[in-house]
Amino acid sequence: MFDFTHKTIVITGAGRGIGAETAREFARAGGFVVINDLVPNDQINALLDEIGQEKCIAVYADVSKEEDVIRMCAEIRTLRNTIDIWVNNAGIVDSASLQDTTLEKWNRTFAINLVGVFLCTKHATPLMINGGAIVNIASIRGAFNCGRPPIADYSASKAGVISFTKTMAKELAPSIRVNCVSPGVAETEMTKGYAQDFIAKVKDEIYLGNLIQPSQIAKAIVFLASDDASGITGANLMVDGGQSLSK
Ligand SMILES: NC(=O)c1ccc[n+]([C@@H]2O[C@H](COP(=O)([O-])OP(=O)(O)OC[C@H]3O[C@@H](n4cnc5c(N)ncnc54)[C@H](O)[C@@H]3O)[C@@H](O)[C@H]2O)c1
Repeated sequence: MFDFTHKTIVITGAGRGIGAETAREFARAGGFVVINDLVPNDQINALLDEIGQEKCIAVYADVSKEEDVIRMCAEIRTLRNTIDIWVNNAGIVDSASLQDTTLEKWNRTFAINLVGVFLCTKHATPLMINGGAIVNIASIRGAFNCGRPPIADYSASKAGVISFTKTMAKELAPSIRVNCVSPGVAETEMTKGYAQDFIAKVKDEIYLGNLIQPSQIAKAIVFLASDDASGITGANLMVDGGQSLSK
């Protein structure tokens, strides 16, 4: 059992899906969780109630905007003084094929999925004065040879997250470990609109047979953030049921 008592954990895009499940998992392990998302909503209020106001707070900010990230870090500093763990989870898929996509779509995907990871890492690390761990959420689509049409922008942004993780693992060592989790297709609101024939094809590719559950990803994130992973930095842990072995 992991123990995050007295630790402050910040999770971006934690209002639902993988981030929300990760917030639950850290809180169960005794941590104090800062739930970041864009704007308040009923789902986030329910999550705050479920975890308990004494074990979490919400801080609203758009990770793609530097002024928002600076304000968020200042708010966290006022509330908690230091940060121990930062999970860069916020991300979007808004893709189209090469001829149907636009520069605006590309820039937005990169601004949230990759620039957001950079901005949060830049402004959070000065608050990680006792050292700590960063876990970035990439995707199997960012792995070598795994980019998939029509999500070229998403795939490239996640490849950037994997590369950034490895560079930061060197730059921030030895006080801060930086690792990456790359999920396969997981059952969240991000993927619920995917066509049934696509989901059937994905299931065929997954050696363990089922779509990944957010809780399975959350457990990998918590492990990489824990002292049990004290010898691990610069890693990219695939949580995909073996899907990336298919391509
Ligand atoms: N679901 C999957 O199949 C899958 C697979 C591989 C990787 N991932 C990655 O895992 C992460 C979480 O995915 P999910 O399925 O839980 O997604 P989701 O869409 O269910 O949740 C993402 C959350 O991020 C928030 N968000 C979006 N833009 C933001 C911004 N600019 N600033 C702050 N918050 C923002 C959203 O409001 C939402 O609450 C993403 O980085 C995603 O790319 C997901």
